[in-house]
Amino acid sequence: MDKIVINGGKKLEGEVSISGSKNAALPIIVGVLLSSGKTRLENIPHLKDIDTILEVIRYLGAKADFIDRHTLEIDGKNLDKEIAPYNLVKTMRASFLVIAPLLARLGKAKVSLPGGCAIGARPVNFHIKGLKQLGVDIEVEEGYVIAKTKGLRGAKIYLDFPSVGATENLIIAACLAKGETIIENAACEPEIEDLINFLSLMGAKIEGVGKNVIHIQGVNKLNPVNYKIIPDRIETGTFMIAAGITKGRIKINNAVPGHNEALEKKLLEVGMDISKGKDYFLVKGDGILKAVDIKTMPYPGFPTDIQAQMMALMTVTPGKSVVNETVFENRFMHVSELNRMGAKIEVNGHQAIVEGVPYLSGAPVLASDLRASGALILAGLVAKGRTEIKRVYHLDRGYENIEKKFSLLGAEIRREKDIDLF
Ligand code: EPZ
Repeated sequence: MDKIVINGGKKLEGEVSISGSKNAALPIIVGVLLSSGKTRLENIPHLKDIDTILEVIRYLGAKADFIDRHTLEIDGKNLDKEIAPYNLVKTMRASFLVIAPLLARLGKAKVSLPGGCAIGARPVNFHIKGLKQLGVDIEVEEGYVIAKTKGLRGAKIYLDFPSVGATENLIIAACLAKGETIIENAACEPEIEDLINFLSLMGAKIEGVGKNVIHIQGVNKLNPVNYKIIPDRIETGTFMIAAGITKGRIKINNAVPGHNEALEKKLLEVGMDISKGKDYFLVKGDGILKAVDIKTMPYPGFPTDIQAQMMALMTVTPGKSVVNETVFENRFMHVSELNRMGAKIEVNGHQAIVEGVPYLSGAPVLASDLRASGALILAGLVAKGRTEIKRVYHLDRGYENIEKKFSLLGAEIRREKDIDLF
């Protein structure tokens, strides 16, 4: 087990290059299984979650290899197993998406229910309801979803909530279904846009990219392609906030500013100086900053995946900030750890009230989930003294080389073996 050690107080200055998006890569890697033949995916980040999804698709019979540092070659030709086992799906819930290509290609699937995680129960009822409408018979037994179909057929599906995963699962399933599928109240995150662009390049007939109503006309076959994954907007946002919390100046390259509009507007309200070009942000945090209120919403609202990082900034920003988490039921696990560092945060159900304090103090803290780990790093960067963040396997799921990227910006941060097991 590793830990991250930070000696805080350094102003971050310089340039950073954003890695490919984990949450775009995962559904696209699954989408490859709709075709036979070699697909090449560029800009794939080296992350634990990517390793996990590759383990799952190899288990199902696909071939998947990195042909250079960030380019994957995947061949879905030999899809010969329809079971996605619990030990793999439980570590990473996006593995549940494999149910779609298994049904489309083999007409059957037995996929473990993903189970909950630190931030919530995270059921898959919207996925199951939509798949049933596409002509799938589904039983849930002993923690597995057992599904079979005589042939997927188009349907008109309304999602009770714009679920990212359910939207992705149903789009993938509908591509080879007979007839038209309409998904209403669909999620429209940039990662879904990337999935739709990828599937369309393969020959899928999909309209409504970036919208909440998606039309998919089923086709008989999809072809292997070469595709480049979009940059990671959550990593981009984490570095934007890092410039604010350390009162530094960071140029964030290989970004798509249009994917971070809600955060950009919030950071301008805080008082940060932000300029941007086609593929970069220039962010300065050396002005007078003031506390703002945050309410997380489905895209294009303020992203839930940036809530913890934004809260870290609010802990040392003068004034009171009300943080409303509307997407997940338990996404305040970082609060107790931030309070151990001297923050003043009170949680009341889905709401946290943050009272800005003059400074944080370094302390040993525990990472609880991926984005909470990002928040603890940001807090450690600004805290006086030494912060030790344990259980960084959470961090390694979704941030590529994060401590190296921060140290190149002037942070005193390093990874160490964690010898004490508690
Ligand atoms: C995706 O998770 C992301 N993960 C999450 O990022 C992100 O926080 C989330 O979307 C929201 O933007 C990936 O893309 C791999 P949802 P997903 O289905 O698809 C409830 C990260 O840090 N719900 O939009 O699981 C659910 O419980 C991760 O990178 C149901 O009730 O999110 C949650 O409260 C964390 N039933 C809400 O909807 C369902 O069938 C949003 O979930 C599905 C979801």
